Amino acid sequence: MSEIKPTQVFFHPGTVTQPERAKLLKQTGATLWFTGLSGSGKSTLAVALEQVLIARGHAAYVLDGDNIRFGLNAGPKILQDTRGATEENAKRFGLGFSPADREENIRRIGEVSRLFADAGLFALTSFISPYRKDRDAARKAHESNKAGAIPFIEIHVKTPVEVCETRDPKGLYKQARAAVAAGKGMGFTGVDDPYEEPTSPEMTFDAGTQTVEDGVAMIVNELTKRGLLG
Ligand code: ADX
Repeated sequence: MSEIKPTQVFFHPGTVTQPERAKLLKQTGATLWFTGLSGSGKSTLAVALEQVLIARGHAAYVLDGDNIRFGLNAGPKILQDTRGATEENAKRFGLGFSPADREENIRRIGEVSRLFADAGLFALTSFISPYRKDRDAARKAHESNKAGAIPFIEIHVKTPVEVCETRDPKGLYKQARAAVAAGKGMGFTGVDDPYEEPTSPEMTFDAGTQTVEDGVAMIVNELTKRGLLG
């Protein structure tokens, strides 16, 4: 089969404008990109914010790293066990935690969140997204959106690794430490895989010292200030 070249596919612009969508939904779509270590409280904050936004009559949806890894970005074993993928396809399409797989994980979510936000929703993404270049690429995809730039608000959930490790809600830090002690390693973010902190996030939140209510209020205020809530 021949390869499809970029000169053989053509972008087909729609006719519905961003202001028309904003008028319908009474809000301006945006992506709120939560980044931080495993167990830092990203998803707790995103889910609480989603609930508050919905209660106030806004369309919002959380895209959560762990959850998306059961579907769109499923790992090879999940693809084989639950979707009946062949071993070859599971290896080809399944995503794990190597730097290349994390890059693809974030690339796909950067695109999906851009589409959600382009449709007028608040896309709340909760992924470790440990590499700066991958987060920056997601931001760029929003800025260069064909129908018009989309707000991309990066929220660094900056809970210190010691706090995340003490909480260890999934027991994964313990597993990672044991793997390192056994000389194998696990490539776990914050233990034996890097987390590159954002250099200029729009907002920061520390679950070690701030309450979820504080975090939600801070973000709602920011959305209001930017005029995104209609
Ligand atoms: S990311 O690095 O590609 O952005 P993502 O947010 O999708 O990660 O998934 C992170 C979740 O996967 C963690 O909260 C944890 O539950 C689980 N996990 C399993 N293995 C690892 C690992 N090696 N490093 C980080 N998280 C892992």
